[in-house]
Amino acid sequence: MGPLFLVVLSYFFHHQLEVLALATSSDYDFSYMKSVYNATDLPLKEEYDYIIVGGGTGGCPLAATLSANYSVLVLERGSAPPSYPQLVLTTDGVLGVLLQEDDGKTPAQRFTSEDGVAIVRGRVLGGSSMINGGFYSRADDQFYNESGIHWDMDAVEEAYQWVEDTIVFQPNLLVWPSIVREALLEAGVDPDNGFSLQHLVGTKTSGSIFDNEGKRHGAVELLNKGKLKNLKVAIEAYAERIIFSSKASDVSASGVVYRDSKGRAHEALIRDKGEVILSAGAIGSPQLLLLSGVGPSPHLSSHKVPVVSENPDVGNFMADNPRNNINIVVPFALGPSVGQVVGITRDFNYIEPVSSVTSFSFPQPFGFYPNGTGPLELSVATIEEKFSGPLSSGSLRLVSSADVKVGPTVRFNYFKDPKDLARCVKGMRLVGDMLKTDAMERLKFQDLKGAEGFKFLEPSLPRNLSDDASMEAFCRSTVTTMWHYHGGCLVGKVVDGDLRVVGTNSLRVVDGSIFNASPGTNPQATLMMIGRYIGLRMLQEREAAK
Ligand SMILES: Cc1cc2nc3c(=O)[nH]c(=O)nc-3n(C[C@H](O)[C@H](O)[C@H](O)COP(=O)(O)OP(=O)(O)OC[C@H]3O[C@@H](n4cnc5c(N)ncnc54)[C@H](O)[C@@H]3O)c2cc1C
Ligand SMILES: *[C@@H]1O[C@H](CO)[C@@H](O)[C@H](O)[C@H]1NC(C)=O
Ligand SMILES: *[C@@H]1O[C@H](CO)[C@@H](O)[C@H](O)[C@H]1NC(C)=O
Ligand SMILES: *[C@@H]1O[C@H](CO)[C@@H](O)[C@H](O)[C@H]1NC(C)=O
Ligand SMILES: *[C@@H]1O[C@H](CO)[C@@H](O)[C@H](O)[C@H]1NC(C)=O
Ligand SMILES: *[C@@H]1O[C@H](CO)[C@@H](O)[C@H](O)[C@H]1NC(C)=O
Repeated sequence: MGPLFLVVLSYFFHHQLEVLALATSSDYDFSYMKSVYNATDLPLKEEYDYIIVGGGTGGCPLAATLSANYSVLVLERGSAPPSYPQLVLTTDGVLGVLLQEDDGKTPAQRFTSEDGVAIVRGRVLGGSSMINGGFYSRADDQFYNESGIHWDMDAVEEAYQWVEDTIVFQPNLLVWPSIVREALLEAGVDPDNGFSLQHLVGTKTSGSIFDNEGKRHGAVELLNKGKLKNLKVAIEAYAERIIFSSKASDVSASGVVYRDSKGRAHEALIRDKGEVILSAGAIGSPQLLLLSGVGPSPHLSSHKVPVVSENPDVGNFMADNPRNNINIVVPFALGPSVGQVVGITRDFNYIEPVSSVTSFSFPQPFGFYPNGTGPLELSVATIEEKFSGPLSSGSLRLVSSADVKVGPTVRFNYFKDPKDLARCVKGMRLVGDMLKTDAMERLKFQDLKGAEGFKFLEPSLPRNLSDDASMEAFCRSTVTTMWHYHGGCLVGKVVDGDLRVVGTNSLRVVDGSIFNASPGTNPQATLMMIGRYIGLRMLQEREAAK
């Protein structure tokens, strides 16, 4: 639990000086555990200035910021990271946490979209930042222009740095990311932007919330930057609904009902001038608004939820950036790697490498290894493709209004908009071009006759990259999730430019549900920045109103 040292690194890009102050300490900082309480140990009724539902990627920096001057309660349905050190605190756990069976308490909750895609979401203090790939890259300029939030760019910069000096590291490049870096540049994804946290067209190495010892420093460690004596974090605290008080036509949030693991209901109430903030994620926040009677009346009525505030777009515009990838079996030991490098094209296709070591039991799927008896360890190199946006979207609807643990249904309608399909084709053509580069030569196997080629784990790209129909079929048949799903509480529809829920008072949403497009190549940097940014703005507004 040592101190964090700052180092200032200067890089020149496009004649600009980028000053980075990144984290350097590789020690976990568990100070936040002093503020963590089992919900069963909390009173059945208590008051706070602010109540934040969801101790996730956006919720933790927000809680830390508000705690500087006010009492804050965070309600998190999951447990704390020290309960699963191997799974959520190390690079070695990245694959395991995704594959672990969901017993209702494990840190990755599984769900399947109505499109048939298997997805996960975080259920642990620190949220999805504790189960993700760790890649950290800031938002694109278009995001600031089109997010519907009024940005003070100096404050944005400060908020990013507040995050970065604590939990963001410059990674030592591993073998596979460095090969992909070369392949991207050879395939024309230029310029080479070196190491940068900025969203820049070209090829770059970006930051990571994993340090170079493989330790994860998720959003949970941002709690340490708050005033811990003002902060109470309840774990295994399932928020069930927002409590509203109505005076005349005014609908105001006044608290939250949550249930502990013994099944007891608690009421947390807010003091005068306090607020309730939903940071339960793109699935959790729209679900909670609906359960609380904020949403489209026909849907609420069909579930016998009394309508508190009609809001037709709660749960609408749910989007998930399609991911398509190719997986190559590598003729040498490669070792696992998580996000370090990204190629950003002029059309905002994003190409990212990951690698893993997979065990196969015989009979092997390939037939070019000598016969053996035990499981076979294979290095698998993956090139992932996604693109900004997307334009296609669907909706989220309640399944149960009685039990918050029964998740909603969600449909993303991947590739419903033909422009999305065309962008996938473009991105996968680029991946095809990367396979033709010198950098990729060393991944080829030689067969008995001396002919060289890649060994793909199915599916491989169509042979004819110019053929639209087969490329489109590839995109559709191999689509999966990059886990950047967002929407459901869009700015301009469900919340205003200050992220307040329209038609209500004392209620905001601060998480990925507010996005009409996923920011940057990967969203967590922006989510953490927004938690800090909105928190500071709330403190300033309150000071100004005094
Ligand atoms: C497997 C995976 C890999 C990813 N890889 C990357 C990556 O490398 N880089 C990147 O930038 N992004 C990545 N992402 C995406 C990124 O992690 C998420 O977009 C981001 O963390 C979402 O933040 P959020 O604040 O919206 O929600 P979350 O961080 O998910 O937080 C929501 C919190 O609310 C809690 N909650 C929900 N409902 C309730 C309730 N009723 N009561 C109490 N608590 C509740 C949840 O338990 C959770 O802790 C990945 C995501 C996943 C799942
Ligand atoms: C919280 O307390 C309950 C009841 O004692 C217990 O069953 C549960 O395991 C505790 N949770 C944690 C995370 O310690
Ligand atoms: C963002 O808006 C500014 C000001 O209107 C404009 O100059 C800039 O080109 C826009 N950037 C993008 C990426 O849309
Ligand atoms: C390898 O396995 C195949 C199929 O089981 C078998 O026919 C063959 O004889 C085996 N070869 C060796 C060298 O063991
Ligand atoms: C590849 O597809 C294009 C477009 O369908 C077609 O014109 C071309 O002949 C195909 N090339 C080969 C080698 O089949
Ligand atoms: C916190 O409170 C102190 C004392 O009331 C005040 O001086 C200060 O400006 C406040 N800070 C913020 C960020 O609200």
